[in-house]
Amino acid sequence: MAKSKVLVVGGTGYMGKRIVKACLAQGHTTYVLQRPEIGLDIDKLQMLLSFKEQGAHLVEGSFSDHQSLVDAVKLVDVVICTMSGVHFRSHNILMQLRLVEAIKEAGTVKRFLPSEFGMDPARMGDALEPGRVSFDEKMIVRKAIEGAKIPHTYICGCCFAGYFVGNLSQLGTLVPPKEKVNIYGNGNMKVAYMDEDDIATYTIKTIDDPRALDKTVYLRPPENILTQRQLIEKWENLTGRKLEKCSIPAKDFLDSMKVWDRGNTDADMDHASQVGVGHFYHVFYEGCLTNFEAGKDGEEASELYPEVEYTRMESYLKRYV
Ligand SMILES: NC(=O)c1ccc[n+]([C@@H]2O[C@H](COP(=O)([O-])OP(=O)(O)OC[C@H]3O[C@@H](n4cnc5c(N)ncnc54)[C@H](OP(=O)(O)O)[C@@H]3O)[C@@H](O)[C@H]2O)c1
Repeated sequence: MAKSKVLVVGGTGYMGKRIVKACLAQGHTTYVLQRPEIGLDIDKLQMLLSFKEQGAHLVEGSFSDHQSLVDAVKLVDVVICTMSGVHFRSHNILMQLRLVEAIKEAGTVKRFLPSEFGMDPARMGDALEPGRVSFDEKMIVRKAIEGAKIPHTYICGCCFAGYFVGNLSQLGTLVPPKEKVNIYGNGNMKVAYMDEDDIATYTIKTIDDPRALDKTVYLRPPENILTQRQLIEKWENLTGRKLEKCSIPAKDFLDSMKVWDRGNTDADMDHASQVGVGHFYHVFYEGCLTNFEAGKDGEEASELYPEVEYTRMESYLKRYV
């Protein structure tokens, strides 16, 4: 079967650049949207030029120019969007509605993968404010996709290792703590962790796979489902040093988000941090990544693609030693 032609939207982003790399590596003709809005952002431009050097095609288009998006999506069979969705960076999930409109008008796209890559928003209906906006907005996009009958695949289910593994799942840092580590509750909730490059590899595997059509594909390979305590133990084994453990009861953790309610403005936690606390709560206290079966509308990536040698977290952690 001929490999699909793919357009990556958001290609210079944290996840996007990995999607472009995986798409080229798996032999797909790869187009990357080049937005005029990047202006003088030399890093983005250089990255786009490096994609071109590696064989990608750059296609000009803007979210402010509907026809340019229609023309871009008409070039391909598959569109993958990695639009920003992390509050302390930028959060523009609803911009994708414009892309959905373009895909609908073009009428030629065989698969659309919107920007997901996190907790399954369909299972987060009871999520806490203010972090629930991430899930609510992803659901609005899903509704538009399904309403327009656009064939799709949703990739979800894991924590990015760069955000959750290197720091032993500590808030407010991306590197491992040196002396003391916070443990969420008893630290025994199961969490799925993934190297972002592997997420990209699995994502590209799904695009021509009929088993993933109109499905949610969860990234939960068995050896990467770990408790926070197991993750910390791997780090301690690597470094040969024990860390002091400080367990945070659920109530205290949630209270850290509500300081602002008590009018203590000095201790106000900014909005992005509140979003982060809510998301951590769902993952580490409620187990929202692992407390359900994939079900009939879901698949698990490592079962679909057993040939992928996914990165184990002890191996991932070595770069931080
Ligand atoms: N599970 C996890 O642990 C986890 C962690 C982080 C992120 N995520 C999810 O992964 C997805 C991608 O996040 P990311 O961190 O990779 O995003 P990002 O790097 O912050 O941004 C991705 C891209 O979004 C595009 N973008 C941003 N603002 C835009 C605007 N106003 N108009 C048009 N395009 C705009 C840019 O594309 P250009 O290349 O065109 O400039 C940017 O490179 C999100 O859905 C996020 O929720 C999950």
